[in-house]
Amino acid sequence: MLKVVVLVSGGGTNLQAIIDAINSKKITNTEIVGVISNNKDAFALERAKKAGISDFVISPKDFQDRADFNDALIEKIDELKADLIVLAGFLVVIPPKMIEKYRNRIINVHPSLIPSFCGTGFYGLKVHEAALERGVKITGATVHFVDEGTDTGPIILQKAVEVHKDDTAKILQQRVMKEAEWVILPEAINLIANGKI
Ligand code: GAR
Repeated sequence: MLKVVVLVSGGGTNLQAIIDAINSKKITNTEIVGVISNNKDAFALERAKKAGISDFVISPKDFQDRADFNDALIEKIDELKADLIVLAGFLVVIPPKMIEKYRNRIINVHPSLIPSFCGTGFYGLKVHEAALERGVKITGATVHFVDEGTDTGPIILQKAVEVHKDDTAKILQQRVMKEAEWVILPEAINLIANGKI
């Protein structure tokens, strides 16, 4: 059984997609052993509670310095005995110490086709604003392993999504989530859980 810890900051729709895929057996051999948010108001925490999953808030605001926050985050993940850490809209920089310790065991979902619209400053709605500004006709989502760079780790899965003429960033974000993120994130976890990656 793959023990997964999901890190979140916001709405948690990707977390929900993972929970639903486990319940419907699209993901097998997998258990979510904890959800950690840096934001106490994240709706993702409600989703975890509703699914009966232990939830934790670990916020940089509650620590004197970043090193203490980093240590607390790693300590909690160690305590949960995570085999895989899933960044599902987690908008905090991952401590290098954690990347080293959990190499090839941290994955992230990013709302574009990497290497487009990724790296520092590209997160959430900003990614879709940039895609519309550039006028791309195809965008999508990527699931990748996390390394020391921002969105630079090995790519696991990608899925393309069409941009429509009258899209706003919010409309495009929803389409990318529904058609790509909520599909490829569960799929990547299932592949890992079943030794296919
Ligand atoms: C998702 O679109 C995810 O790809 C993005 O944040 C959103 C979180 O939504 N992540 C990034 O931009 C990371 N660079 P959710 O909380 O509803 O899953």
